[in-house]
Amino acid sequence: MDIDLHRHPDIDAIAAAVAQRWAAIAREAVARQGAFRVALAGGNTPRALYRRLAQADYAQLPWSQTHVFFGDERCVTQDHPDSNYRMAREALLQHVPIPPDQVHAMVGQPDDPQGEARRYAERLAAEPALDLVLLGMGADGHFASLFPQTGAIDIIDRPVTAVFVSKLDAWRVSLTLPAITAADHVILMVAGTDKADTLAQALVPTSHGLPVERLIAARPTEWHVDARAAGRLES
Ligand code: 6PG
Repeated sequence: MDIDLHRHPDIDAIAAAVAQRWAAIAREAVARQGAFRVALAGGNTPRALYRRLAQADYAQLPWSQTHVFFGDERCVTQDHPDSNYRMAREALLQHVPIPPDQVHAMVGQPDDPQGEARRYAERLAAEPALDLVLLGMGADGHFASLFPQTGAIDIIDRPVTAVFVSKLDAWRVSLTLPAITAADHVILMVAGTDKADTLAQALVPTSHGLPVERLIAARPTEWHVDARAAGRLES
């Protein structure tokens, strides 16, 4: 378990710290290979980060050499309130000069999850490994859309999968564990009291069968957590 844990007072402090990490990783990637490839997290937690990156003090980042992918997506239209693409567009993408053909939405045809997963896998196969994957964590220990009891965490023969999440009664498209494990950097942002028990379980060697424990076991992970989510961790 190679866990790099950073504790912050609140979500805004997480956003400030991860924005600095994004900037450092982006500058290094562009210097090394002329491009920076990042997969965005969905849900609510990353919104503060995206808004922070849209601020003027990050205007000098290499946005024109940035290529944006998504770690997962709900099978909804891109203007749907639940769309991760919509959230990222409103909080960040429409505020920074990333060329539109360098933003790769994951779902365009919500009624064809399997086809979208195949198309995204082909898209990713045409690229070098991702430089950074941003993730959140659910209270059930899921990350991206690799939810418990779906079998999605066990998929190792393809980089993208469609997954039906019965407890949500919804289809998702998600990067799989191998695709995330292959990235240069993986940063998880976790905030809120509802995550405290799960985080305490995930960050100890004893397995609790949580999907995120498979990621921890597979590669180094960097965590930025707020005081509420860290409430059950040893000091
Ligand atoms: C999604 C996310 C998902 C999210 C966790 C945590 O599409 O919902 O990718 O994996 O990161 O569910 O969500 P919150 O940040 O809203 O707590």
